[in-house]
Amino acid sequence: MRQNPWFESVLEAQRRAKKRLPPSVYAALVAGSERGRTPDDNQNAFAELQFAPRVAGHQPERDLSTTVMGIPISLPVIISPTGVQAVHPDGEVAVARAAASRGTIMGLSSFASKPVEEVTAANENTFFQMYWTGTRETMVQRMDRARAAGAKGLIATLDWSFSIGRDWGSPVIPEKLDLKSMWDFAPEAIRRPKWLLAYAKTGRVPDLTAPNLQPPGGPAPTFFGAYYEWQQTAPPSWEDVEWLRREWGGKFMLKGITRIDDAKRAVDAGVDAISVSNHGGNNLDTTPATIRCLGPIADAVGHEIEVLLDGGVRRGGDVAKALAFGARAVMIGRAYLWGLAANGQTGVENVLDLLRVGLDSAVLGLGHRSITQFSRADFYVPEGFERRLGIEAASTSPVTA
Ligand SMILES: Cc1cc2nc3c(=O)[nH]c(=O)nc-3n(C[C@H](O)[C@H](O)[C@H](O)COP(=O)(O)O)c2cc1C
Repeated sequence: MRQNPWFESVLEAQRRAKKRLPPSVYAALVAGSERGRTPDDNQNAFAELQFAPRVAGHQPERDLSTTVMGIPISLPVIISPTGVQAVHPDGEVAVARAAASRGTIMGLSSFASKPVEEVTAANENTFFQMYWTGTRETMVQRMDRARAAGAKGLIATLDWSFSIGRDWGSPVIPEKLDLKSMWDFAPEAIRRPKWLLAYAKTGRVPDLTAPNLQPPGGPAPTFFGAYYEWQQTAPPSWEDVEWLRREWGGKFMLKGITRIDDAKRAVDAGVDAISVSNHGGNNLDTTPATIRCLGPIADAVGHEIEVLLDGGVRRGGDVAKALAFGARAVMIGRAYLWGLAANGQTGVENVLDLLRVGLDSAVLGLGHRSITQFSRADFYVPEGFERRLGIEAASTSPVTA
């Protein structure tokens, strides 16, 4: 029987991605560090929050739209930047097109496989993401290029500690696909004919470079070359964050906040938005799920800046829960990567549609007219669910559960 290309849940997209992608590419998307507790908690914590649905008085018309950093979007879900290679030949351009067709924002990683110019051409509402890597001069060059390409916001991601050791092992990713590495990789690729065929049709193999980190007049660095530069760069201070924010000049999001004191510091640095994020569980393992950290952070700074959440979002109901705890919108990572791997642009649209339909069911079932009406009262929240990390400096114990 022929498989329906449409899938009805993100988990089904993940199953299809696993079948379709070479095992090492799939493993790079699963990612996570050490025990993998944080990626698990990111997803599982959503299920601890229990809906309190109503049976009558439902609203026939419901509004899911909002804005993020001044850009109107048709649902409170945007694309989180992911620096991955070799998932699909159309890569981030396909993701950007899907996001545009569903009325939402594309977040493009500086480690992505497609140049920012191609991505902004596919979706005019693109935010460019940067890490603190290289010299100030190279950072200015990268920002100038993204601005010239039409990026409408900058996402500075600062939660990375180079802690990637995985108990289940990391995939071996070659520096570049030359003849020798293709020979080594061939047994994996041959077991994945659909993936291979998609690349064969383009006449190119994945080049495993980071085109958005290309210096003027020079070649794009390899993914690992770019990673090495990042590792060699002295980590940023808050003054550096203020500098980055000033240099960009436009809308600015700081991604990777889990602590209340950091959120307040980000407000002082002049950011427009933060994302409560633990890098999808790829930073320090056993950092709590972002949905546990969100409420206390949104209570502290939500009246001053926009608060988003990313981490573990796989369903429209998860989006509803994040909004109830104070998020303006969520960013998705693996969810769209599974869709992209399973069915290209259409697969990403499929994922966005699933989130929209699931969110709409939550608005309907809770008797609301708009996503602005969600609150903690819509859920049973188990005692001790939330985590207040980084409470005021006056406290003797800066981190409490
Ligand atoms: C394979 C992979 C690569 C990622 N690369 C980046 C990146 O280059 N820049 C960034 O800001 N975040 C990156 N992230 C983190 C995502 O933007 C996001 O925070 C995370 O995926 C959210 O969790 P989720 O995957 O459970 O939705 C990456 C995540 C994954 C899974």
